[in-house]
Amino acid sequence: MSFTIAIDGPAASGKGTLARRIAAHYGFRHLDTGLTYRAVAKALMDAGQPLDDEAAAIEAAQRFDIADMRRDVLADHTIGEAASKVAVMTAVRRVLVQRQRVFAARPPGAVLDGRDIGTVVCPDAPVKLYVTASAQVRARRRFHEILGNGGEAEEAVILADIEKRDERDMNRADSPLKPAEDAHLLDTSEMTIEAAFQAARTIIDARLNESS
Ligand code: DC
Repeated sequence: MSFTIAIDGPAASGKGTLARRIAAHYGFRHLDTGLTYRAVAKALMDAGQPLDDEAAAIEAAQRFDIADMRRDVLADHTIGEAASKVAVMTAVRRVLVQRQRVFAARPPGAVLDGRDIGTVVCPDAPVKLYVTASAQVRARRRFHEILGNGGEAEEAVILADIEKRDERDMNRADSPLKPAEDAHLLDTSEMTIEAAFQAARTIIDARLNESS
């Protein structure tokens, strides 16, 4: 048996940082499923193929190596936008979801973060967290992150991008972003990552105690 922790939430909500922290604490493997959509988008972009070329996207989704996904290479903002477009294709989602389930199934446990983990990928996960924050707070965090890395950005442009991405991710027909009915909501607008981690730990420890 594998113990799965499903973490969903919108772009820049802090779910990735929280997922890595939880995985390290419990000794579980971690999969940022957003990277899988980004890897497909990048493969299409590198090959000069349109982002809505379904056959090419399916092939890319089957082919790339999950162990080789590199956050630094895939972090680029334009790749994130492209990934959000690739993610509307049902046939592509089917391939990636299957691969994500294989990752989740290996013992002792795994933390998966994304948009549809608690609702579609791992609906039976014993712990589901939905991490969110206001669009303004998420834009500000992303803005400071870019400045901190020596980059340049405009907060208003980032906010507009985040709102556009929310709109696409929450309103697509297949697997839209939404909390699972049994998800614990964590609004991190006014919470530090440490406070969010402690809240998550309380929830996870309770479930681990029940299942041991
Ligand atoms: O979390 P991220 O910014 O790396 O995700 C990039 C895009 O991939 C996101 O806008 C929507 C898509 N995605 C998805 O549809 N389902 C997931 N489980 C993860 C990401």
